[in-house]
Amino acid sequence: MTYTAGVDVGSTQTKAVIINEEKEIVGRALIDTGANVMAAAEKAFSMALKEGNVGEEEVEYVIGTGYGRYKVTFGNKQITEISCHGRGAAQMFPGTKTVIDMGGQDSKAIKVGENGDIDDFCMNDKCAAGTGRFLGAASMVLDIPLGDLGDISLKSEKPVRISTTCTVFAESEVLAWLGKGKKVEDILWGVHLSIAARSIGLLRRIGIEDQVTFTGGVAKNTGMVQAMEDGLKMKINVSDDSHYMGALGAALFALDHVFAHRQPIQVGA
Ligand SMILES: Nc1ncnc2c1ncn2[C@@H]1O[C@H](COP(=O)(O)OP(=O)(O)OP(=O)(O)O)[C@@H](O)[C@H]1O
Ligand SMILES: [Mg+2]
Repeated sequence: MTYTAGVDVGSTQTKAVIINEEKEIVGRALIDTGANVMAAAEKAFSMALKEGNVGEEEVEYVIGTGYGRYKVTFGNKQITEISCHGRGAAQMFPGTKTVIDMGGQDSKAIKVGENGDIDDFCMNDKCAAGTGRFLGAASMVLDIPLGDLGDISLKSEKPVRISTTCTVFAESEVLAWLGKGKKVEDILWGVHLSIAARSIGLLRRIGIEDQVTFTGGVAKNTGMVQAMEDGLKMKINVSDDSHYMGALGAALFALDHVFAHRQPIQVGA
């Protein structure tokens, strides 16, 4: 059996997947990137191998992606995360025309053409507004785990209006609302709505075409999915593997490479 791997070294978390020739994920791993980017890439790769019960020698080609892709020193090639998220999303949801990737540092809107090719893309500016970092700031100041933010926000009946677009000021704005006696769920839903509004603004710049697929770690957040669907007024594609979409895309590009370089079997030789 031939396997390939994709390792997506994000600014916040490192994801690795191993796929087989049928393009099925057989192993996955997710760890914090931390300060030692190279070590994170190696660790995620070996964890994914272990989970899939696959030996390193059985992996024919490895592609690195994400901001730390050049630290995937054991990889055979690097491809940008824009291409990899587009490719992964088009594989998992073949009707995908538009991708929104919300990661730890920034958000990216990607327009996907035929066969998962990238037609256009747009990233938010240097400022981390509209991303996981904004949620991270809210999580810290409210002392609520990141994984619970979404569910709590969905209890809101009267969301507050978050006016700041900067992570640095998000903390003081959240504290100010708390001081005014606003409920935590109403503050949180306001935070989600503000991130969704800015992400939808990003999507509008490339044009929103159905189907929209949500990728990146923030897709794990149920509140964010709801806020995006409310804002876009349409259902969006989300999978349990949305966080692994970039790594999956990288592994699929690796599989393309393997198929393209495979020697044809000589009949009668
Ligand atoms: N279980 C979870 N529930 C809610 N949010 C989550 C969960 N796991 C991760 N996240 C969010 O996802 C973010 C990380 O996403 P991701 O791994 O896609 O980012 P990244 O690829 O490291 O960043 P970037 O693409 O910006 O370089 C975290 O900062 C957090 O906000
Ligand atoms: Mg990423």
